[in-house]
Amino acid sequence: FDTQTPPSSTSDKTSFAYTSARDRWPIIITGVIDDVHRAVSETEDVDKRAEGKKIVEDIAKLKYELQHDRKLTPLLDDGSADIAGYNKELEQLGYPSWFNVPWLYAECYLYRRVATSMALSKHWKSYDVFARQKIGTFRSSRPAVIELASRYHELITQMSHKDEKPKEEVDTAEKILFMEMCEICLWGNATDLSLLTSLTYEDIQKLQGSEARKASEKNIIVNDLGAAYNVLRKAQTDGKAERRVDIVLDNAGFELYVDLILAGFLLSSGLATNVILHPKSIPWFVSDVLPADFGALLSALVTAQSFYSTPSEEELNSGKKPAALAEKEIKELAFLFQEWSHFHSEGQLTIRTNGFWTEGGSFWRLPATAPKLHNDLKESELVIFKGDLNYRKLTGDAMWDPTTPFTTALGPLGPGSGVNVLSLRTCKADVVVGLKPGQDEELRATEGGGGDSGQRAWAWNGKWAVCSFSSGK
Ligand code: F6P
Ligand code: MG
Repeated sequence: FDTQTPPSSTSDKTSFAYTSARDRWPIIITGVIDDVHRAVSETEDVDKRAEGKKIVEDIAKLKYELQHDRKLTPLLDDGSADIAGYNKELEQLGYPSWFNVPWLYAECYLYRRVATSMALSKHWKSYDVFARQKIGTFRSSRPAVIELASRYHELITQMSHKDEKPKEEVDTAEKILFMEMCEICLWGNATDLSLLTSLTYEDIQKLQGSEARKASEKNIIVNDLGAAYNVLRKAQTDGKAERRVDIVLDNAGFELYVDLILAGFLLSSGLATNVILHPKSIPWFVSDVLPADFGALLSALVTAQSFYSTPSEEELNSGKKPAALAEKEIKELAFLFQEWSHFHSEGQLTIRTNGFWTEGGSFWRLPATAPKLHNDLKESELVIFKGDLNYRKLTGDAMWDPTTPFTTALGPLGPGSGVNVLSLRTCKADVVVGLKPGQDEELRATEGGGGDSGQRAWAWNGKWAVCSFSSGK
């Protein structure tokens, strides 16, 4: 079911696949080792300590194999259904080595292997090696979190008076808001943690906030948000009783926060009657949302004062004391919590996990290998796929000519699939489609864009983005 277009491979030295395997993965794996090491030192439980040390050894071995370009070995059977699929694919690939393997498979394998070590233990089964980092980054995005809470509160207050306004005015405003919310969600993705190896917290803050957002609009090189809006508006004006939107989530922390803001807006405006969120089921690509990340986020909001103004370890060491939150800020954050809790208790905002999202292949396989999930997604008016990895999976992470239509690059999930796809993606990998002729060349010619090096470097750092839509009809 895969595309015939060759996949992006770690063997291509001009690709971000190669740079990732060589520079980024060792840093990420070292982070995992450090985290487990720290957790081991924090526990008194002797059995748990021993198991933790064994996990550290397993992961150090993984790092060694990667850095010495060894062959990928079959995953140990941890009882989950997806292991057989991973191992079958490894066999089909001919047991490749780390620097000669399809990028997408290898990167999924890496996270799956860490998860296997945990799953095979007794005490670390539900341990998330990235949890500490995820919540830490959410805390560091305080200015943008507060700005958005305030904007959201204002917006919902205005919306509660919308019956007093002419319908056309409301519709136009809601269209603009829909686009703006989607853009917030789009750029919320520029701050994912797997790129943090090269970003400072200051950079992250600059990426957020409304000024930054306006300035970034010119960096959206494909923008189909209008088409996506029309689908939702049409379902509403056609009088469809249930109008569902799905969000295939990407990262926890700030990005999840903005995704929930979008969900709240869709429900409050009536553009949707239900929103279903799809998180991952194992720690994934560092920052991806797990079900437990919802709880962590919500508890940060209800305990906002202590969450934000209790100094972190670093702040204690540097003597910097965070400022206390103002009463108004605390109320606005609590308002968000109430809104989301209300929608959740009414059954309008729900979470749905599926093992398919953490398999090693692309979404080209979805209709054939996960037919139930496919049928479920067909029920949705719009399925929003967040982030870079989802885009890579949608397009098979293949080396398409960049002028290939998005609908073609989706393969079996394109037109005829019954699924309306909207991808909100800041570019952090080589694959990109739907560009105009000459556009890739122009972008390569920009500063740091790659020039004649053969690298599509402009597409690597999250500076440029695409909002691509495909109708499932
Ligand atoms: O490009 C860096 C990278 O880690 C890719 O490997 C991966 O596709 C992506 O970032 C993850 O980003 P996102 O969280 O946007 O999916
Ligand atoms: Mg991610």
